[in-house]
Amino acid sequence: DKDQIILAIESSCDETAVAIIKNGREILANVVASQIESHKRFGGVVPEIASRHHVEQITIVLEEAMNQAAITYDDIAAIAVTEGPGLVGALLIGVNAAKALAFAHNIPLVPVHHIAGHIYANRLVKEMTFPLLALVVSGGHTELVYMKGHGSYEVIGETRDDAAGEAYDKVARQLNLPYPGGPHIDRLAHEGNPTIDLPRAWLEKDSFDFSFSGLKSAVINILHNASQRGEEIRPEDLAASFQASVIEVVVTKTKYAAEKYNVKQVLLAGGVAANKGLRAALEKEFEKTDIDLVIPPLYLCTDNAAMIAAAGSIEFEKGKRAGLDLNGIPGLEL
Ligand code: KG4
Ligand code: ZN
Repeated sequence: DKDQIILAIESSCDETAVAIIKNGREILANVVASQIESHKRFGGVVPEIASRHHVEQITIVLEEAMNQAAITYDDIAAIAVTEGPGLVGALLIGVNAAKALAFAHNIPLVPVHHIAGHIYANRLVKEMTFPLLALVVSGGHTELVYMKGHGSYEVIGETRDDAAGEAYDKVARQLNLPYPGGPHIDRLAHEGNPTIDLPRAWLEKDSFDFSFSGLKSAVINILHNASQRGEEIRPEDLAASFQASVIEVVVTKTKYAAEKYNVKQVLLAGGVAANKGLRAALEKEFEKTDIDLVIPPLYLCTDNAAMIAAAGSIEFEKGKRAGLDLNGIPGLEL
């Protein structure tokens, strides 16, 4: 049998990425050009700047991936590309590059949902065993996704306001930490103690939804009141208290959902999976159970195209195809 080689493109936010994988699980090339430095001074991703960088980087990143994998276009079974969700101007660069390649080399085009990609990053580490639960925590998303089989997604819980990573970034901004703030809060949290009382957003009993805006507001109020009274708040303790609230809610809901849905595996996905406190708390929670917890390495948790190729491989096998009228869809549903 011939190997199945998938080339994937990801450009939904601020990384221009191209990857090539073999037989759904083996990475031949995984190139990511990050734009973080260009967005830092604005404290967040500026859509127009993101699009311009994608235009500049896409052909360079593509060529590097082809060289790394040492293949020709004749070897490629399908071109997978992130269709959405994401910034529309950013998505369009990847979608148009993918369409051009598919058309020029007569290769099938496979659209991929960005969150499906984050989940399938896990398959590059370990084979999936169903049913499973995926916890997706990133700058744009916080979701609990139940999967009965490949390509089947049921969102059983999601954030009603800010995403987990967004809350981290906003709290970091209040503490005058650079963008993206998640890693800085994580580092400070380990130097402090959770001595400050902050709310836990459990929402309704049995709900797997999340909410982080109340927690974020509570942090802002504490800083504001302290500065008015001329009091000092140790940023380390505030970071530790904030992180404790996020982790307690996220881990408790994940554990409860995993038990209720009787899953065999729990997968962690998205940029916030880099959080050391979250990783440790999940490991501790699941180590006493029969449930297999999978946490991919960091370079597969943050945005990359290998994860899009992994999800694309499954979609390709299931027969999913797009025509040359494929568009980027900013609010695409899973
Ligand atoms: O998945 P990702 O690279 O981009 C999106 O698709 O959103 O996630 C980026 C997010 C940012 O909000 C960043 O602050 C957060 O992940 N992040 C972290 C950590 N490392 C990255 N949040 C908490 N702790 C970390 N160690
Ligand atoms: Zn992402």
